Order: sequence, then C-alpha cells, then structure tokens
Amino acid sequence: MAGDTLIVNVCNNLGNQSTTIHWHGIFQNGTNSMDGTTGVTQCAIAPGRTQRYEFIADRPGTYWYHSHVGGQFPDGLWGPLNIHDPNPPFKYDDEFTIALADWYDESSPELVHKYQSPEGLALDGTPKPSGGAVYGYWSPHGPPQLGKNLSIPVVPGKTYMIRLICAASYPGIAWDMNGHAQTTVEVDGTYVKPQFIKKGGVLVRLAPGQRQAVLVTMDADPSKNWPIWSILDLNILFGNKNIPKAVPIAEHYNPNVTSWLVYNKSAELPPAHVYYEDLLNDDFYDDLDYVPLDGMPLLEPVDHQIIFNVTAKNISSISRFAINNSSYVGSDVPALYTANTIDQKYVANPLVYGQVNPIILKHNEVVEIIINNKDSNLHPWHLHGHNFQVLDRPNPYGGVYNGTYNRTVSRVPVRRDSVMLQDYSYAVLRFRADNPGVWMFHCHIELHVNSGLMSTFIEAPERLVAHNKKPTQATLDLCKDYKIPIAGNAV
Ligand code: C2O
Repeated sequence: MAGDTLIVNVCNNLGNQSTTIHWHGIFQNGTNSMDGTTGVTQCAIAPGRTQRYEFIADRPGTYWYHSHVGGQFPDGLWGPLNIHDPNPPFKYDDEFTIALADWYDESSPELVHKYQSPEGLALDGTPKPSGGAVYGYWSPHGPPQLGKNLSIPVVPGKTYMIRLICAASYPGIAWDMNGHAQTTVEVDGTYVKPQFIKKGGVLVRLAPGQRQAVLVTMDADPSKNWPIWSILDLNILFGNKNIPKAVPIAEHYNPNVTSWLVYNKSAELPPAHVYYEDLLNDDFYDDLDYVPLDGMPLLEPVDHQIIFNVTAKNISSISRFAINNSSYVGSDVPALYTANTIDQKYVANPLVYGQVNPIILKHNEVVEIIINNKDSNLHPWHLHGHNFQVLDRPNPYGGVYNGTYNRTVSRVPVRRDSVMLQDYSYAVLRFRADNPGVWMFHCHIELHVNSGLMSTFIEAPERLVAHNKKPTQATLDLCKDYKIPIAGNAV
C-alpha cells in the first residue's frame, strides 16, 4: 500500500556472483543508498552476504525490481512490484499483472561476453531472441504462472486493471487482447487521464523498463475463450512479413472453463485486426500521448540544459557505446561514498575521481536533457530517483536535435521514468532536481549498459553529507573484489 515502509532482506546465494537489487521507478527520496546501483550507491552484495533494503513505497503504481549487476536480470533476477492505492481514482473489479520479456538460447553472461568481444563485433553482436514475449502472470488470488503458456482466469463482464511490465532485456514488446478494448490509466507510476488505445489497432507497445496499467472489461459471453497476443519489436522489424492475419484457436483452449484469456504457443501471430504493415508503419511507441491526471504543467524555465550525443564506438575492437565520446565504466568506490567531497576540481576533471559521464546538478534546478541518438539502435532510457516530462521524441530517422523541437510541446506533458529513444532521432526530457542523490541515467538494454551507455547525475552533492557513510577499508576492498569486470576502456 502506498506509504508503507518496505523492508527486503536480500541474501546472496548465487555462489560465485555478487548482486544488488534495484527498485525500478521508486524515487528513494532520502534513501539514495537503497537504490541498489552497483558502484554508484553501494558495493555489490558479495556471495554469502545479506543486505537489508528499507524504503518507503511512496507512490501507488506499477513498478518492478531487478538486479543491477551486469547481465543478471535477463537471466531471471527480477519481479513485479505493485504499490496499491487505498483510493484509486478509477473503478475496477479486480486486477492482475502481466510481465513481457524476451529469452535467449544463451545465458546472459555468454551474450555479454560475445557482445563484448572482437568475435561478437564481427558477428554484429545482435542477440537473436529465441522467444518472447508474455512471460509471467501474477494475481492477488493464487500462485503466479511463469513461462509461455498461460491460462488467465477472468470473470465475464468484469473490469480488470491489468498491470503490464516490460522486463525485456533487448527489444520492446507489443501486447494485445484479441477482441478487448484497453484503456490506459497509468504509465510508469503516473496516473493519466483514461485514454483508449487506438494505435496499430488496439496495441500496447512497451519499451524495456516501461510499465502501463490498462482497464479492460471482459467480454460478457461466458461461452468464449480469448487469445492474448504479444510480439517482440525485433520480430516486427526483421521478422516474417507474411505473418498470417488470423490467430488459430489457442492450444490451451479449454471448453469446460468458459472465462479464460489464453496465451497460445503460436502467439507471435497477430490478431485478425492487426496487419504486419500496420505494425511496421506504426509510430511504434504511443508513450507520449498520455496526460497526467494531476495536470502538472510543463517545467519552465530551464535552468540547466544537457545535451547527450549517443554514438556507437569501437574501442580496441570491442563494441561500446559512448555519450559525448565517453563510454561508462563503473568505479571502484561507489560515487555516493565520495559525492560530498565533490568540488570544482571534480567538475573540471571527473575522471580523476573514477567517474565517467557524471553530471552535477544544483538543488531544485529545472534540468532539460536532450538525447541525440546518432546510432542505428533504439535505446530505452531510464532515470533513477525521478520521473521526467517528455517534451518531444520524433519518429525513427527523425533527425538529430538542431535547436528546436518538432512537436508542439504539451502544456501538460506526460511524466514517466523510461522512454524509448528512436534510431537517428532525439528525445527532450525535463525534471526538477529535487531529490539529492547520485542517480543513474542509462539505456535499459542490458547489453548496452554493459557497453557503457550510462551516466550518473550527482544531484545536490552538498546535501549528501548525511547519506554518506564512511566506508571501511574492508568494504572498499570488497567493492574491488566484486567489481564487475567490463571489457574495453573508459574513453
Ligand atoms: Cu531498471 Cu538502472 O534500471
């Protein structure tokens, strides 16, 4: 429930790997050290050790948690985190949670290794998912169902709030419920004016890290099953152009139970009303179309503008990504431990302090970030400790930022914590720096994180004194021992 204090003891029984857990979307106001970011807010939890995370579940909404140590979450170290509202602003009878994810024949460390080796570069490194995309179902009424073949019990005629989470590690994912209209009411923890989904038919499309809650009234006819359907963006972009136009009867069709939504094995086939060309030509993401229910106006004027030029870069034959030419590597000492020592020397030469791509923010300033994507990949960006207003995000190949926005900026822009940046395009984001701490800002594609597509915002460092714990030498040694090895060099 919103306002609750959440306490989670994470015992690392992974044997030979260190870990941390990040609570994706939780602001951690006043609890920066609970954000779970390795090398930024903490040392990783060594094998055999336990860490207690304690923080306030401050806003109702749909969130998730995942490991923030290289390559662990794609192999399954994640789960949903729903914060309930004692007085939700919408009426519904019941709710359930659906996670969309991708999976691969190789384990994540293998993929990371391949991606970060000259061999991987030669192979173009792009992982080929062996599957996707509905991966889990959680309901308040029984045990979860994990894996591809789900049967979701629903009561005909009832309205459900369905919380969708995109836990994919590489592509975005589309979702549809054949024959059922979906109305969006929440995006990334922000309530929005109820909005009927219309793009590409009735599809929801989520970028890695994004969440969206939709209201759906189940068909009143108890004599029918309904297929649910989902597809990876990669399969739309590079997939079979002859996707059949109709879905066969779901394999798990159960004539005795008349009120199930069914995910079928051949569910990468779209519903009858969705056509491949529609999918391909669709604007892909409708995540800017929503209006926050609280009507929070556009933040202005801008006090601090930051421009990030994103490029792909080969360093010593290793495929890396760079922001303004620097590719992130983690530091030995978590930035939070030293942030209060930041001074002008640091600002002038952050590398001396082991920091790559740090941005220092003043308390309460309005920050505008323009991410210029000079790369052919899509990059879903996620900010820790905040959500941001999205002012503009042109279509793929929309061109780099040249000083003006394309779109008429809405006076009440959507606020989210994750947004898809399209290929050869840009995104304009704003937020107020009202949460002192050291916060990661990164692409949520796990392979790209491991390839350096990351920066840190060091917000109001002078206010961090209270958070800073003086680490003992033993702690710092542990940090070193369990530092995640990253191929390539910093710059
Ligand atoms: Cu969901 Cu820094 O991540």
